[in-house]
Amino acid sequence: MASDHIAIRPMREPDLLAYKALRDAMLAGHPEAFTSDAETESQRDLASYRSRLTGGGTLFTLLALDGGRVIGALTCEREARRKVQHIAHLVGMMVADTHRGRGIGRALLADAVARMQALPDLAQVTLTVTAGNRAAVGLYESVGFERYGRLPDAIRLPDGRRLDKDLMHLRLR
Ligand SMILES: CC(C)(COP(=O)(O)OP(=O)(O)OC[C@H]1O[C@@H](n2cnc3c(N)ncnc32)[C@H](O)[C@@H]1OP(=O)(O)O)[C@@H](O)C(=O)NCCC(=O)NCCS
Repeated sequence: MASDHIAIRPMREPDLLAYKALRDAMLAGHPEAFTSDAETESQRDLASYRSRLTGGGTLFTLLALDGGRVIGALTCEREARRKVQHIAHLVGMMVADTHRGRGIGRALLADAVARMQALPDLAQVTLTVTAGNRAAVGLYESVGFERYGRLPDAIRLPDGRRLDKDLMHLRLR
């Protein structure tokens, strides 16, 4: 269970700087967990993160805040084309190392799933996760996500590691 003083709410424009700071730190600290690389992303300007606010293909980015400090995030995107509008994707799941194992990832995911279930035309949600990321895979499986495939050699790290990605989905209705 997330601690009482942890708030979860959609990201707004004034949050973008704190969101970028969290994301940059997480990309640098967990290169195996994300497809984006820290060096490239750290050079992005703040305005480019507006695409993560609600609007366009982004349904929402949820933030977890501890006393106003952004310590977690999760983004939900929706397909635009008519034949695939029933499908959403979760990206950018992260909880600061200082706050791991306290139920914050679970709270972000539960909030996101509830918001998606409130949209009658949304039928399923997908995500990708590095195979062997026990914390993330365990979290996703615990709310009902199932693996429907695995992409071998999905990401290549500067140290030479080649990692697979599990492809997971959850039926919303
Ligand atoms: C993955 C991540 C988001 C989980 O967030 P968290 O707040 O630490 O997770 P929670 O405390 O909410 O744990 C929820 C569930 O996840 C699973 N889990 C968490 N840590 C785990 C671990 N080390 N091993 C196995 N399962 C684990 C458990 O099922 C747990 O439920 P339980 O506490 O009832 O057993 C977080 O560890 C993180 O940001 N990691 C680095 C970035 C990353 O891997 N992002 C995912 C990209 S797909």
